Amino acid sequence: MSRAVADALPDHLPGQPPRARPAALQELGAESEFARELLAGLARRPRSLAPKFFYDEVGSALFDRICELPEYYPTRTELALLQRHAQEMADCIGPDAEIIEFGAGSSHKIRLLLDALARPRRFVPIDISADHLQAAAARLRAAYPGLDVQPLAADFTQGLELPPVAAGQSPARRVGFFPGSSVGNFTPEEALVFLRDAARLLSGGNAVPSGSERAPAGLLIGVDLVKDPAVLHAAYNDAAGITAAFNLNMLARANRELGADFQLDRFAHYAFYEPRLQRIEMHLVSRCAQQVRLCGQVFEFAEGEALHTENSHKFTVDGFRSLAGRAGWRPSRVWCDPEGLFSLHWLTL
Ligand code: AVI
Repeated sequence: MSRAVADALPDHLPGQPPRARPAALQELGAESEFARELLAGLARRPRSLAPKFFYDEVGSALFDRICELPEYYPTRTELALLQRHAQEMADCIGPDAEIIEFGAGSSHKIRLLLDALARPRRFVPIDISADHLQAAAARLRAAYPGLDVQPLAADFTQGLELPPVAAGQSPARRVGFFPGSSVGNFTPEEALVFLRDAARLLSGGNAVPSGSERAPAGLLIGVDLVKDPAVLHAAYNDAAGITAAFNLNMLARANRELGADFQLDRFAHYAFYEPRLQRIEMHLVSRCAQQVRLCGQVFEFAEGEALHTENSHKFTVDGFRSLAGRAGWRPSRVWCDPEGLFSLHWLTL
């Protein structure tokens, strides 16, 4: 693994002073979800932390770099599918729709759809990383001056309410957009919950004036497919070490935000394909026996002990259609690249 990028992970963000190390959790405020979940994740066995904590400012920028890596096929394959089939997808969605993007990140992919859609009513990008989201929304407003862009900085797994629409507007069809195969980062049970919650959010919510009806909701979702494990292994173990830096940033973030004292060179990025569960697993493995201090607590790591940071499930087309069906969606069209690397599914209610 190349460590050059991982070694350059900052202890504090540019323009911000380094944080003093707090002695106890109270000093941080128990309201820090990251602190609470990291403390709980380090206390359980096996140790684990939810992948949503990758995406602070540094992590989001590293993820953008992953998407451009030669080994990381999902982004370019999905972009090519969107480029080639945008008009067919826009025809499925229809005119005057409201598009809600889950985990919008840099909002690059939506542009291909927006260019093909007839009179999109409004665009609601939802992302946990507020700064990244606002910057992307500003760029989108500049590129699409007629489009109502209403970013929502939120964790979309925690229950959401969409921003209200302007008074007097007729109800628009709501269509979810969830590209990138982020659905694969959930456990199968969590994926089912997400798909059910998305159905509820997209079909309900803001009151519809009597006498008018909202067209049934839809969901356009990107899904990574099972394939040669060697291709998968390369995608999560890139030669430039960007995925390693992305993984290690979880610890760098704990140092920056929580005053932890993780020594990054004492942990190794470890990613492998687990064929039985059809998923890539990412871990941070302790290179030696060591102690780490976090929020006034001391955690012992044995040599070789791991913190499990991410699962990235891969699906067959039929497997995903059946999962969507169990969540109440009607699987409709599917677009795949000729090599069968990636798929985009159109689901309706
Ligand atoms: C965001 N998500 C779909 C990516 C994936 O492939 O599971 C996150 C990622 N992790 C390592 N590389 C990319």
